[in-house]
Amino acid sequence: MTEVATAGGGAYEIFIGRERLAERVGALGEELGERFANAPEPPILIAVLKGSTMFLADLIRAMPADVAVDFMAISSYSSNEATQVRIVKDLEHDITGRDVVIVEDIVDTGLTLTYLKRSLVERGPRSLCTVTLLDKSARRIVPVEVEHIGFDIPDVFVVGYGMDFQGRYRNTPDLYAVKDLARLANDPLLLVPGLFASAH
Ligand code: PRP
Repeated sequence: MTEVATAGGGAYEIFIGRERLAERVGALGEELGERFANAPEPPILIAVLKGSTMFLADLIRAMPADVAVDFMAISSYSSNEATQVRIVKDLEHDITGRDVVIVEDIVDTGLTLTYLKRSLVERGPRSLCTVTLLDKSARRIVPVEVEHIGFDIPDVFVVGYGMDFQGRYRNTPDLYAVKDLARLANDPLLLVPGLFASAH
């Protein structure tokens, strides 16, 4: 799965390259197409901003089906006792009686997805399922069902293909593993020269 990228002083490496991503996302698109082949209405794919946008764009182009798309944004913060999650951007669609697919880039602790599912089920969809590009199942705090999974990955910090570090690095075609997160935290621009031809 990995090949070493030398720029950035060994702080990162390619984790899943663009060809492998395209292949797996294509297969997920086919899976979802089959799932909704006989659906009465097009499913509504709900992307959770912002990390899942690149995955969504590729996924829906790989689905041989008519679909609708909507977006939600979630904010989460941790206090001493618990993690609080709330909706900061809600859907434009009424999902009552519709087939709904939550589109995530990554499921980690499971807290966000658990909250989202609870919120969406209350709105009375015909069906609800989840597709995630990445599943860090080893880090799960709350057990949560995920029907369609691209890659089950170990506990590595990833950036690229939609995923960020402090808002950067979302726009790379490949997915990278950050090998030295402490160094990146000290120097958030560390990966820029290696990942992009022109640094600002
Ligand atoms: C990521 C991801 C999920 C959430 C999963 O979002 O897109 O929504 O974390 O984590 P959990 O399973 O531990 O709840 P993030 O907060 O990084 O926001 P972003 O997509 O805007 O980068």
